[in-house]
Amino acid sequence: MSNQKVAIVSGGATLIGQKVAQALHRDGCKVVVCDINAKDGQAFINELGEDGLFVKTDITNDADIDNCIEQAISAFGGVDYLINVAATYLDNGLDSSRDDWMNALNTNVVGAGIFTKKVAPHIQKRGGGAVVFFGSIGGKIAQPGRMLYSVSKAALIGMTRNMALHLAPMKIRANSVSPGWVWSNPIRDFSGNDRGKADQVGGPLHMLDRIVDAEEVANTVAFLCSEKASGITGTDVAVDCGYMAMGPEQTTDKVSRLAE
Ligand SMILES: NC(=O)c1ccc[n+]([C@@H]2O[C@H](COP(=O)([O-])OP(=O)(O)OC[C@H]3O[C@@H](n4cnc5c(N)ncnc54)[C@H](O)[C@@H]3O)[C@@H](O)[C@H]2O)c1
Repeated sequence: MSNQKVAIVSGGATLIGQKVAQALHRDGCKVVVCDINAKDGQAFINELGEDGLFVKTDITNDADIDNCIEQAISAFGGVDYLINVAATYLDNGLDSSRDDWMNALNTNVVGAGIFTKKVAPHIQKRGGGAVVFFGSIGGKIAQPGRMLYSVSKAALIGMTRNMALHLAPMKIRANSVSPGWVWSNPIRDFSGNDRGKADQVGGPLHMLDRIVDAEEVANTVAFLCSEKASGITGTDVAVDCGYMAMGPEQTTDKVSRLAE
């Protein structure tokens, strides 16, 4: 049996998920991409070649998750890593209905939790591995117009710690990444595919005066899966160009204005 590692990436039809799949593939993994978006997911896998597989999967559906895991094992012999990228931005702030709450949390929180629980025994059979969750700056601060997304991302950062504890006996490490604004499908669409505008608007919120590249998030995910991160579990890694470390004074020297 080949000892090539196998990763499942949920939400792999979108740019961030695709970059994660490419980074893991570059590191020698076979990659199973799953998503509700079959058109973009399949097109991406066609480009990736024979080390890739797309499985249409709704992570709110247990039978779909089971099918995805079964297909991964039958195509590639096992699973070593799960990357929970899939998420919904369904959010009506304070006006969110009970259905909105249940749907958003079902996708973002319960979907990732159940996928992880179901795949863990298979990762254990391979001698251990790693799971990565997607938090966000939105899981650590309040954002205008948002409620469900922020709450779900905070829950995922909490889930990371609890999964790390419960999966440790199975030799599975669990960590999360929390990106700042990322050049991604939603930001590409909002900005009319204008990266300069995205950096101009989002840059001042980040110490590095630009938004995050999806590759930077993907490289961190690949690192967290790798043996180089063998001592890291239960933690959240900010990939946010300094967003969370910067206070409201931002990059300008406000104190000097006192002397003006
Ligand atoms: N874009 C950013 O600036 C940013 C910042 C911080 C964190 N993130 C996180 O990065 C990840 C990707 O976000 P994105 O901005 O690229 O958004 P996106 O909407 O482009 O991607 C989300 C993906 O999840 C899939 N998906 C949604 N519901 C699903 C379901 N029930 N089952 C399976 N797949 C489903 C979608 O089809 C899509 O491909 C998310 O976890 C998001 O919270 C993004």
